[in-house]
Amino acid sequence: MGKVYYISKNVGLGMFVLAICGLATIIALSVAYDKEKSKNQGNVGDGESDSTSTTTPSTTPDTPKEPWDHYRLPDSLIPVSYNVTLWPRLKPNAEGLYIFTGHSTVIFNCVKETDLIIIHSKKLNFTTFFGHHAKLSSQDDTPVPTILNSWLVKKTEFLVIQLGSRLSAGASYSLYTEFLGELADDLEGFYRSEYIEDGVKKVVATSQMQATYARKSFPCFDEPAMKAVFTVTIIHSRDTVALSNGKEKETSETVIDGVDVKITTFEPTRKMSTYLLAFIVSDFVSIESNQNDLLIRIWARRKAIDDGQGNYALNVTGPILRFYEHYYNTSYPLSKSDQIALPDFNAGAMENWGLVTYRETALLYDPILSSTGNKERVSTVISHELAHMWFGNLVTLRWWNDLWLNEGFASYVEYLGVDYAEPTWNIKDHIILYDVQKVFAVDALAFSHPLSRGEEEVTEPAQISEMFSTISYSKGAAVLRMLSEFLTEPVFARGLSSYLNTFAFGNTVYTDLWDHLQQAVENTPGIHIPHSVEKIMNHWTLQMGYPVVTIDTRTGSITQKHFLLDPDSTVDRPSQFNYTWYVPIKWMKTGVEQPQYWLLQKTDTHIPMRVSGEDWVLANTNVSGYFRVNYDPDNWDRLLSLLNTNHQAVSIINRAQIIDDAFNLARAKIISTTLALRTTKYLSKERDYIPWESALRNLNYYILMFDRNEVYGVLQAYLKKQIQPLFEHFKTITSNWTRVPTGHTDQYNQINAIGIACSAGVEGCRELIKSWYREWMKNPNRNPIHPNLKSTVYCYSIAFGGVAEWDFAWSMFKNATLASEASRLRSALACSKIPWLLNRYLEYTLDPTKIRKQDATSTIQNIARNVVGMPLAWNFVKARWSYIFQQYGKGSFSFSNLVSGITQRFSTEYELQELKRFKEENLSVGFGSATMALEQAIEKTTANIKWVTENKAEVQQWFAQEST
Ligand SMILES: *[C@@H]1O[C@H](CO)[C@@H](O)[C@H](O)[C@H]1NC(C)=O
Ligand SMILES: *[C@@H]1O[C@H](CO)[C@@H](O)[C@H](O)[C@H]1NC(C)=O
Ligand SMILES: *[C@@H]1O[C@H](CO)[C@@H](O)[C@H](O)[C@H]1NC(C)=O
Ligand SMILES: *[C@@H]1O[C@H](CO)[C@@H](O)[C@H](O)[C@H]1NC(C)=O
Ligand SMILES: [Zn+2]
Repeated sequence: MGKVYYISKNVGLGMFVLAICGLATIIALSVAYDKEKSKNQGNVGDGESDSTSTTTPSTTPDTPKEPWDHYRLPDSLIPVSYNVTLWPRLKPNAEGLYIFTGHSTVIFNCVKETDLIIIHSKKLNFTTFFGHHAKLSSQDDTPVPTILNSWLVKKTEFLVIQLGSRLSAGASYSLYTEFLGELADDLEGFYRSEYIEDGVKKVVATSQMQATYARKSFPCFDEPAMKAVFTVTIIHSRDTVALSNGKEKETSETVIDGVDVKITTFEPTRKMSTYLLAFIVSDFVSIESNQNDLLIRIWARRKAIDDGQGNYALNVTGPILRFYEHYYNTSYPLSKSDQIALPDFNAGAMENWGLVTYRETALLYDPILSSTGNKERVSTVISHELAHMWFGNLVTLRWWNDLWLNEGFASYVEYLGVDYAEPTWNIKDHIILYDVQKVFAVDALAFSHPLSRGEEEVTEPAQISEMFSTISYSKGAAVLRMLSEFLTEPVFARGLSSYLNTFAFGNTVYTDLWDHLQQAVENTPGIHIPHSVEKIMNHWTLQMGYPVVTIDTRTGSITQKHFLLDPDSTVDRPSQFNYTWYVPIKWMKTGVEQPQYWLLQKTDTHIPMRVSGEDWVLANTNVSGYFRVNYDPDNWDRLLSLLNTNHQAVSIINRAQIIDDAFNLARAKIISTTLALRTTKYLSKERDYIPWESALRNLNYYILMFDRNEVYGVLQAYLKKQIQPLFEHFKTITSNWTRVPTGHTDQYNQINAIGIACSAGVEGCRELIKSWYREWMKNPNRNPIHPNLKSTVYCYSIAFGGVAEWDFAWSMFKNATLASEASRLRSALACSKIPWLLNRYLEYTLDPTKIRKQDATSTIQNIARNVVGMPLAWNFVKARWSYIFQQYGKGSFSFSNLVSGITQRFSTEYELQELKRFKEENLSVGFGSATMALEQAIEKTTANIKWVTENKAEVQQWFAQEST
């Protein structure tokens, strides 16, 4: 999407730090992009499994009888253009209802004779004309059939008009409707968003059409391939401004029905899909710039704009657009680019063509109060959305089953766009943490699913929503990056540009992209691939999962095997490729890059990979392939000794990948747990963020499993030993904590260093952060803590402090005006180690005057992440399940996270029994959207018990031996 649904990138938030302290905060951040995902997909944390899209789409056995019982439009009518007029009322009517009224004319061509007009419409009330919902006329001299009957079909969201005779193929007609809808606060279609400014409630009318909500704003042929030209008119009150996809053409003032209004008309759009439309009425203001006659504007609440919070977005938008024009070799297709920050926008962002919508945290950056992570998020979300202006908007996939290509593509090139705008960040490396490793975790489960689905498998709105999953976004990004790497970037970009130019303003299926890339390969001498692009890519898109490639350097033998995290799980989804892949393997021998090797069957021998003595093999260099790598024990030893003696001989992202591969191979019982742990030994010399982050994410599981027993002591001692040099390093380069490190990722790693050091008890750490916090307590109006470090400092100060520290944070929380600050404090309040404070905080979560209703379940979860809070939160939820369920259980995405969050440490037989009892005792109440999470919790607890039993002794011994 503009995704409305998205997924998280916990950029530089010090996630792990907080996890260790007992609070892996998901932070507002979770919802990154357009990743609309956040809405339906609860899990926005790191690497946890994506619970959506695991249900198999139902293929209804009984075929619907009537055309309007099908979810898809018939192929008889094709829209050409619409004139749409909408009038949202920002004040409630006499019944207390917010509404909008509107009328629309659609001109369509009849391509197949039919006596039915079937057009989407949802939750709209129609004005009737002679008892019918619409008026039909013809565009030429063709006789117009009379309307016999018309009705609405709720289930399939259609308005059906039955005619007395047939429409003629080849003729065009126009259909006029007048309608009224509720401007509800449901975040779907044309909806209402509210916020408070200076104590006054303000109402904004805005829209979210993707995937199937345009039909809730006006009757339309609401499928992505039904592209048309839209001429929009918005009627609104005089103190507001109206925006839409086209540039404002004219504004006039008039009086309608005794109401003073303004009428804003917009330039007709280009030919486009309904899901990319946007209509917004607000009292927002903007800042703007011009780039080669292209008007670029950033819109937000007046206060935010006045505080300069839109400046960063404005600064990066021009360069990012320039980058894409060059990369796609196609100029920006529209005459303006608007981006707007909406308070309480549930999605991350949505790529409406020419009017992109964002939640505030994804567009606004406060130079004084925001952190480096906030800045990275703003630039990556903007880059993602702007990538869609061409890929997705100019050329659109024909149907939602190919969504992965749209989202995967934007999720890949967003890094290229940011790299252009912020060349010093090394942002391209971050795809390893935020997409590749993240989706590796999900796609290693037996119930994962393939990227690509058949068009007929995805028809109902709920099935369409399911497509917005981590798999679509992150696996899509990973396999497209792999493709670009083996074709080389210039070839990839040439194929892409030819695809965009060929299909501009049209629709495609994913194989069209493969065809154009294939042509680019064929037109480029010197590029050789072992099979066609399509044949190679089919292995990655049509079957789920990915391989682990095992290289035996003693013999040069190479094998591949479907990688499953749980070795005992069984895969019941058959694959036409029998879970083998065409694997492009870039590799190096003893530091020297070797020619790329293709593994095309299950096993092979590649003699150059046979090495001995001091020589070593490292495969998947630059982590350019979507697979894990295992080696024979000798080569593992050589790689580990290389890390210990000269880790910089291995690239930053390969260091991170060695760690991530080893830990996951150990979980899958392919290598020993000790071998995985040994990959962390060199970290005492590591200064870079990505390998550290990768290690901490993996060690987090160990912390959760052992932070309530004796293993924790030696684990902490080991972490202390490993983090100490990093802590000292940052102390030095920041001149005793008086400056911020200059490197972008150094700033993130400083957060990790302080967090782990304080948690493990490195000398000086706790005193340091407590002194900062005390200073702030003394003078609440002057916060001396750098924004980057706030989450960590707040959390540890409260964890190591008492009631005074807690109460201070609570009062700062109540007074916070910046959303991200409030959210940091709310998370940190859960870090206390004092049971009565935590219990009191739990009680607060059910009092909406203390904790906003939307934040209740995530606050309970935060408390549960804290090792002291976990049993308290569990008891609290058990005792009040029926109340919590009633209040929060209906449709809230965070609700299923509540169960998975509270139970993530569960690893004893007793906890398993409790969980089962909880399930039985509350069957009558129900579990709603947490039903699946509860089943998964039971399964995960069982797996945890097993893992702990099998590994505890080994892990304890290893940490004990290495921590001295
Ligand atoms: C839409 O309005 C324009 C300008 O008023 C008019 O020229 C055009 O014919 C209208 N199109 C439709 C579909 O009614
Ligand atoms: C639409 O009509 C139904 C049935 O008459 C009514 O209950 C509903 O309130 C109407 N919707 C609006 C937004 O007025
Ligand atoms: C935006 O760019 C201007 C001009 O280069 C610069 O002075 C300003 O600091 C930038 N603002 C932000 C928030 O990056
Ligand atoms: C698929 O792989 C399995 C296990 O590796 C093997 O036993 C089976 O023969 C293969 N089937 C086909 C059709 O290649
Ligand atoms: Zn997107």
